Amino acid sequence: MRKKIVAGNWKMNTTLQEGIGLAKDVNEALKGAEPKCEVIICVPFTHLASVNEVIDANKLGLGAENCADHKSGAYTGEISAAMVASTGAKYVILGHSERRQYYGETSETLKEKVALAFENNLTPIFCIGEVLEERENGTFFEVVKAQIADALFHLSAEDFGKIILAYEPVWAIGTGKTATDDQAEEMHAFIRGVIADKYGKEVADNTSILYGGSCKPSNAAALFAKPDVDGGLIGGAALQAESFMGIVNAF
Ligand code: PGA
Repeated sequence: MRKKIVAGNWKMNTTLQEGIGLAKDVNEALKGAEPKCEVIICVPFTHLASVNEVIDANKLGLGAENCADHKSGAYTGEISAAMVASTGAKYVILGHSERRQYYGETSETLKEKVALAFENNLTPIFCIGEVLEERENGTFFEVVKAQIADALFHLSAEDFGKIILAYEPVWAIGTGKTATDDQAEEMHAFIRGVIADKYGKEVADNTSILYGGSCKPSNAAALFAKPDVDGGLIGGAALQAESFMGIVNAF
């Protein structure tokens, strides 16, 4: 059975002190709570080790927002998958549209990142999604299929089964313009079909596919009620414990 997951993506927000405070607030809110999903926070690199110290790993997973496409060496300013893992983090967001758009990430670099994440026992939260123009010109299914196939379909079924996917239509990220629950379900069901064609129904049924893009407490329940939506990757609404927990509790 695939897992239900709500993951926060803090992006480039919070100082270290603010981030520790936010992590503590989420951790506190989870104490004694029985959420019907796994809860993860993905935080800036600088916060990982400190946040790891203040959260209960049994209740709250920790992840990075990116990692380097090289193992180690002369790559000034980069952070390797091994460095991320050494902080205690267990997850890493890869291929976020902001990384693709502003930092030129391609399927080729993402292949390297996925391999290095696996080598270091990090679970990739792998993002895919079309831009507004592709939504409007009707190419969104093929765009998303190519993003998955080009970066991930060289993997064995076993390795593919370790990946969490996040469908994030770029036009819905940070815009307040959420995909409707029907639009999300349509794409999630399509993605599951693409996985089934490649790896078979069992792998497809066991893959968690999260929705991301202006997900908030007010729309999370309707999105999560859809059969192929297994949770959310949450940006803006993850920056306050109350709104983040409102989404966690939408399950
Ligand atoms: P948002 O971001 O919830 O602020 O739209 C989601 C994401 O980019 O992961």
